[in-house]
Amino acid sequence: MEYEAARTAPPPTFPSLPDLPGGRYTDPEFMALEYAHLWRKSWLLAAHLDEIPEPGCFLLWENAGQPVVIVHSETGAINAFYNTCSHRGAPVVTEPKGKKLRLTCRYHGWTYNHEGRLLSVRDPEDFKDLDFSCRSLNPVRCETFGNLVFVNFDLEAPTLLDWLGPIADEWSEFRFDQCRLAARHSFTLDCNWKIAMEANTEVYHVKSIHPSTVAPILDDRRNVNTLYPNGHNRMVAPRPKGMTSTLAQTRGDLPEIATVGEIARTCTQSYGIFPNWVSPLSALAIPPLLFWPKGIDQCMLETWTFAPDWGDRPAPDQWTENQGEKLIQVLLEDTEFGAWIQKSVNSYGFKGVPLSYQEARIYYWHQSADQIIGPENIPESLRVPPVIGEDWIYPNDPRLDEL
Ligand code: FES
Ligand SMILES: [Fe+2]
Repeated sequence: MEYEAARTAPPPTFPSLPDLPGGRYTDPEFMALEYAHLWRKSWLLAAHLDEIPEPGCFLLWENAGQPVVIVHSETGAINAFYNTCSHRGAPVVTEPKGKKLRLTCRYHGWTYNHEGRLLSVRDPEDFKDLDFSCRSLNPVRCETFGNLVFVNFDLEAPTLLDWLGPIADEWSEFRFDQCRLAARHSFTLDCNWKIAMEANTEVYHVKSIHPSTVAPILDDRRNVNTLYPNGHNRMVAPRPKGMTSTLAQTRGDLPEIATVGEIARTCTQSYGIFPNWVSPLSALAIPPLLFWPKGIDQCMLETWTFAPDWGDRPAPDQWTENQGEKLIQVLLEDTEFGAWIQKSVNSYGFKGVPLSYQEARIYYWHQSADQIIGPENIPESLRVPPVIGEDWIYPNDPRLDEL
């Protein structure tokens, strides 16, 4: 942090960043590539165990554009399937959530168990050669990290722990196995999902956008960005002495995660988990923001709050007022320019995005997106050259040599 505060230019070994092509926010071809590769091969946060607490509980989940049902099985496992009956594709559940002993398609009554196995069909004698063992529900990869449920559409994907890499260890102090779901809400924003997410992926904007909310509690000149394998990233900036976090100011009686260490207690830190999770983590709460595309120029912002058991007190919600009625002031500030920026990037006047060293996490995100899409699949005019080398990817960090 002192290194960052003292430097008068970007570190000498940090590359100069080419402009991001504006078409990445406007071109349907790029959105199609995102769906075909990025959303298909990444681990995506879909649910919290509190939403499916008992065997038989299920949740319908369509945030990534695919119809998915997540089931808490009788065996205790958490399973995910395409919500697509193996007969003629009717849904096996139509309610957003519920509890069922069996999943029975309402079209012709084919019935599946919580492992997706086909148990019975109506009038089986009328099918010739119907092999039940080949007609299970189609599985979606599903793994948990503590109480969080992630899905992945790629059956060949690495495990969730491999995907998170060193972050899984860094997060052990937050006890995701004990955090409860305190709040989950969603809002529609009129801009490409990356524009909305990028507003939360740098601290360069803090003095302009948040002069009275964030700026007083975050020392942006001492911010340290770290880039992890697979596109993940982190920022850590100290709070000026004597300042407590916004959440602590408003909810001073909340229980704390006792195992949380010094950094999360004295700094503002935020992790970006590729592709669409941005979240501060503190001793009081883990409140991820998730960004999902809804077409090329609209997106859904999901606001979650996980927290240690709050007992009889009202459930803490880091991001909204009146149980999801309205975003809190900080997020109103962060989302203020989304629709304006979308108009700009759609205009003839938009050329590309020049990024500073402070905005390295945004560039690294795009570079990583091209990696998962496959650069050869991307039209040259939309590609982002991978100029950030391994020397800048954790655990490597040229800044350490300069100290
Ligand atoms: S489509 Fe499900 S039973 Fe026919
Ligand atoms: Fe912000």
